[in-house]
Amino acid sequence: MLAEVTRFLDIRPGQTVVDGTLGGGGHCHELARLVGDRGRVIALDRDPAAIARAERQLSGLPILVAQASYCELPLILNEVGCRGVDGILLDLGLSSDQLADRGRGFSFSSDGPLDLRFDPGAGKPAWQLIDQLSEHQLAELIYQYGEERFSRRIARKIVARRKSRPIRTARELAELVRSCVPHSNKHPIDSATRTFQALRIAVNDELGRLEKALQILPECLLPGGTLVIISFHSLEDRKVKHVFREHDQLEVVTKKPLGPTISEQQTNPRSRSAKLRAARRSKQ
Ligand SMILES: C[S@@+](CC[C@H](N)C(=O)[O-])C[C@H]1O[C@@H](n2cnc3c(N)ncnc32)[C@H](O)[C@@H]1O
Repeated sequence: MLAEVTRFLDIRPGQTVVDGTLGGGGHCHELARLVGDRGRVIALDRDPAAIARAERQLSGLPILVAQASYCELPLILNEVGCRGVDGILLDLGLSSDQLADRGRGFSFSSDGPLDLRFDPGAGKPAWQLIDQLSEHQLAELIYQYGEERFSRRIARKIVARRKSRPIRTARELAELVRSCVPHSNKHPIDSATRTFQALRIAVNDELGRLEKALQILPECLLPGGTLVIISFHSLEDRKVKHVFREHDQLEVVTKKPLGPTISEQQTNPRSRSAKLRAARRSKQ
């Protein structure tokens, strides 16, 4: 949703903007072009692989890259002596590079470890979580974060299976989940999707970080600056919608969330569930 992002951020040469979720650097590259040599993009990602790639591929552009969570933006602005920025973008979820890296467990068919961490240096991998949680805790997690109706059945099967042989790879978990969830022709997504989403949200504390960001990021904007957030599931979108409406310093720019165009959905099927919301920091 590059066109929509740049339209709402309304970037002008010389401005300072933040890409809080650098990923493969597609958005960041365009932001850097728009701010030009007199401006600056501050690009953050928790994933050290995304940072290393950006350092190789985006060198020479006016981009300051740092491995950090977007929640740490105030700290980073302080370090670089910046008192506020003109725009902030959060494009939540996982990147195509993470999905393609078969050593990290994001792809359901991968035989690498079921890790699912954005930052492999922090927290516990998903395989450890499913080894340690009780059946009840697993069912709750899969239900709350995956909105999965068959969560109890999946949790029961994980616990039965791990007694004889622990689950270590994405492929093993995906096969187990598929055997618990009836395939639906109405929803042609892989039936393992919701369980993987739930585990990914848990190991990365995605909702906790988003909540924190929604509290602190408006303060990082200069008056008139814009915050654009693209979310990929209703748990995130509900939080964004609520804070955008309630925050006393934000004016909602998108009355309804925007989705990708038909042609973007065709070229990038993963964009189908994307919802973009934008809000502007009030001038006074
Ligand atoms: C959908 S991708 C971003 C894609 C990017 N906009 C592009 O053009 O390629 C999301 C990225 O956000 C990163 N991420 C997730 N949570 C984060 C957080 N709390 N702080 C910083 N980065 C985060 C992930 O590691 C991933 O690389």
